[in-house]
Amino acid sequence: MIAPSLHFNAFIWPAGYHESAWRVVDDDIRDVLGLPYYAGIARTAERGLMDAVFLADNLAIAEYRTTHLPQTQFDPISVLSALAAVTTRIGLVGTGSTTYSKPWELARRFATLDHLSAGRAGWNIVTTVTPLAAAAFGEPAHPDHADRYARAGEFVDAAIRVWDSWGDDALVGDRERGVWADRGKLHTPGFHGKYYDVEGIQPFPRSPQGRPVLVQAGQSPAGIALAARYAEMVFSGPSSVQAAAAFRSKLHAQVTAVGRNPRQVAVLPALMVTLGGTEAEARERARHLEELASPDFRWQNALYTAGLDPDAFDPDAPLPPDTWAGQTAPSSRAEQLYAASRAQPDAPLREVAQLVTGGAGQVHFTGTPEQLAAFIAEWQDAGAADGFTIMGSTLPYELTAFVDHVVPLLQRQGRYRTEYTGSTLRDHLNLDKPTVD
Ligand SMILES: Cc1cc2nc3c(=O)[nH]c(=O)nc-3n(C[C@H](O)[C@H](O)[C@H](O)COP(=O)(O)O)c2cc1C
Repeated sequence: MIAPSLHFNAFIWPAGYHESAWRVVDDDIRDVLGLPYYAGIARTAERGLMDAVFLADNLAIAEYRTTHLPQTQFDPISVLSALAAVTTRIGLVGTGSTTYSKPWELARRFATLDHLSAGRAGWNIVTTVTPLAAAAFGEPAHPDHADRYARAGEFVDAAIRVWDSWGDDALVGDRERGVWADRGKLHTPGFHGKYYDVEGIQPFPRSPQGRPVLVQAGQSPAGIALAARYAEMVFSGPSSVQAAAAFRSKLHAQVTAVGRNPRQVAVLPALMVTLGGTEAEARERARHLEELASPDFRWQNALYTAGLDPDAFDPDAPLPPDTWAGQTAPSSRAEQLYAASRAQPDAPLREVAQLVTGGAGQVHFTGTPEQLAAFIAEWQDAGAADGFTIMGSTLPYELTAFVDHVVPLLQRQGRYRTEYTGSTLRDHLNLDKPTVD
């Protein structure tokens, strides 16, 4: 049996996903603040026939990060809109927060991107982990995990009503009768929930994909339940092929239970890659990145990605046992840190935090293109992945190497497309297009 075509998403991160990347890449460090950097990556990913590029979003930056990492958290939809003008086929996926946006407003922005890109938009639905975002938005408190996910479900339902407020054929453009759009094909959202009330049609006709592709990356039970209900592309951060296969089958079972088809959900685990022409060269590149890594950054980052403010903690003392007192359920990152500190209750935070991965993925592949192609095939054959969210440890080097040397190997094995066969992100992912009369 021929394996179904793999799907790849290129995670764009300034200078690369490894925290030391900016210290080793050749390019001017300020390049990551300009459009040519993003355009170059998107064009390379498109040359590799990848399904999409992905831009994450973090709504508040703990100040410790400015010391250690390039800070380039632009508004993803603005950057993706600019990329729509310099690419023609690749999907454009960006993060949008359900906790710090309004459904009508965010639905409009993603639908705008879908129009401007002729059907290439995707929305990574996140609830935002960091409580620092509350202050940035003038909110008195950051809602807890359960509350954030309860709002998120309603938020997506409301956004869908906004996208579906124009029938597919509502735009008639009848010059003779003087009718631009058929008012009878409008459907007012009429959404009234516990958290949101949304009235008012989308202020332009339905976008080319009907709805942007819905993406989700939550790892907790609430996150997976949200993904099962809505997501058409799922990012995960598993630690092994076994964990990834278990995650995918758990997700599939929940997708089926809510009456959806698992084939309409592409699971693309996050995978950091370091490539070299030989294994020794790849290992040397990875070693050099690790050598430059800062233990100070690591403990602060472990706290930050668990939703805590590192400035409030002493790294030379253990994590206080009551850290999450009063919260109904900490996030899955918080669980990792909590488990690590319970296993070593007397160890200082600085040490415990080294055991927790702070980033989106937990697997760091290091090796040659041949080895990476074999790794990808193994995960696909084990039912662990429909493809990957590729995070080059440095950029653009790893992405270029992936496109030039890994893609041809997968194509030769019949595991990957040799051309784009459609023009929208839904086409690339073989997703149905939702229709509205
Ligand atoms: C590949 C990947 C990308 C992610 N991108 C973002 C992002 O851009 N913004 C964000 O706030 N969280 C992001 N997350 C975090 C998730 O949204 C989620 O909060 C996290 O995986 C913890 O899961 P939980 O919310 O179910 O506890 C990402 C996670 C992964 C695995």
